[in-house]
Amino acid sequence: MKVTVVGTGYVGLVTGACLAQVGNQVLCVDADADKIARLRAGEVPIHEADLPAMVQEATAGERLGFTTNIAESVAHGDFLFIAVGTPADEDGSADLRQVLAVADDIGRYLARPAIIINKSTVPVGTAVKVRAHIAAALQERAVDVAFDVVANPEFLKEGAAVADFTKPDRIIVGTDSVAAAEQMRALYAPFNRSHDRLMVMDPLSAELTKYAANVMLATKISLMNELAGLAERMGADIEQVRQGIGADPRIGYSFIYPGCGYGGSCFPKDVRALAHSARQYDFDTPLLTAVERVNDRQKGLLERKVVGVLGEDLTGKTIAVWGLAFKANTDDMREAPSRVLMEALWRRGARIQAHDPEALEEALRIYGERYALQLCRDPYAACAGADALVICTEWPQFRSPDFIRMRHSLRRALIVDGRNMYDPATVRAEGFTYLAIGRP
Ligand code: UDX
Repeated sequence: MKVTVVGTGYVGLVTGACLAQVGNQVLCVDADADKIARLRAGEVPIHEADLPAMVQEATAGERLGFTTNIAESVAHGDFLFIAVGTPADEDGSADLRQVLAVADDIGRYLARPAIIINKSTVPVGTAVKVRAHIAAALQERAVDVAFDVVANPEFLKEGAAVADFTKPDRIIVGTDSVAAAEQMRALYAPFNRSHDRLMVMDPLSAELTKYAANVMLATKISLMNELAGLAERMGADIEQVRQGIGADPRIGYSFIYPGCGYGGSCFPKDVRALAHSARQYDFDTPLLTAVERVNDRQKGLLERKVVGVLGEDLTGKTIAVWGLAFKANTDDMREAPSRVLMEALWRRGARIQAHDPEALEEALRIYGERYALQLCRDPYAACAGADALVICTEWPQFRSPDFIRMRHSLRRALIVDGRNMYDPATVRAEGFTYLAIGRP
């Protein structure tokens, strides 16, 4: 099948590469000429396991191509994926300009029947708008081409995006057209294995499903973080509580890890965007507001713990930070708790020595060279002479550190653990003051 993917960000590139791998002819298009040139050379700009090899193999096999020419790309595909960004506006609403500009382009160049598939995370009702934009552009050209618009949200986790695409829990296809649903079923057949994972529903429900999934998960996290704060005050241990409730299959073990707050490109943005949509319907969503408020408070927790021990004024103090990425297995620092922590510590006069297995370049890109931030390739170098070590990301590499080396490197044996990585008794037996999340 012939597939076009507009937008070569995270979602677009993974979609294009995975569809090419199973034998489709895929053409990816992006306005960024530099990016396209790099992709043609097999250079993948994001940190994602398996993706570079897949892109290189499919490119060499001529199943995957890259172009900046939108007209050529619209002419190529029977399936046209829209996978461009929907950044948040000031008020939290999703900015649809890129999505609608692609719809305009499709209408400008479409010459034969096609299925337009929206993969970007978009407000409920966007499929209708995309359809209207394409129809208007076609009408302007006075051409009559049949097309369908399908809402097909992605559920990719960074760091596991290829696996999430090729072994999906579910494939959501939002369309009122039986024919389009069948064509989507054929396109996804290679990934729809062992039992039928493809669900056809109306486009509005498909669009809401995406937000509902993310806010449900964000809610689990915020509730656990709130309970962790309570446990800390009551003298209970949230880790015991987590295991105690996770054993109930109605609750389950996943996404109930307390921590220093959720980050990334999806949860913060989607919680805000859905709350914003609700306001447009004049519908109160106190729970969504609370999920965000709890998360904001949680992101300030590590700083408050540091200040609790070292005092308000951190001038002359050095803090080691392990983990800059918003979660493990990615170099992405969007909305990362580490940023809230570091910026707060800088305001108090501290210097930071930071280590992350993958995100050092990203940190340099965001913060540039500055005296107050030293980026360290070695985790123990980051501890050298520091007054505390703060852990912001749950990298597996941090799970069993050399505590003796750590203690010798740190000036003060203080660990503030935003991810509950260690057994408190063990760390204290090693001579550290150990502050975790929701633990006595
Ligand atoms: C998320 C969704 O999981 C994915 O389905 C959607 O398509 C995009 O958004 P992602 O942002 O890549 O994926 O990361 P995810 O693994 O979901 O983690 C999000 C944040 O929540 C991270 O900051 C993580 O550290 C935090 N988290 C996760 C917790 O604090 N506790 C948990 O129990 C789980």
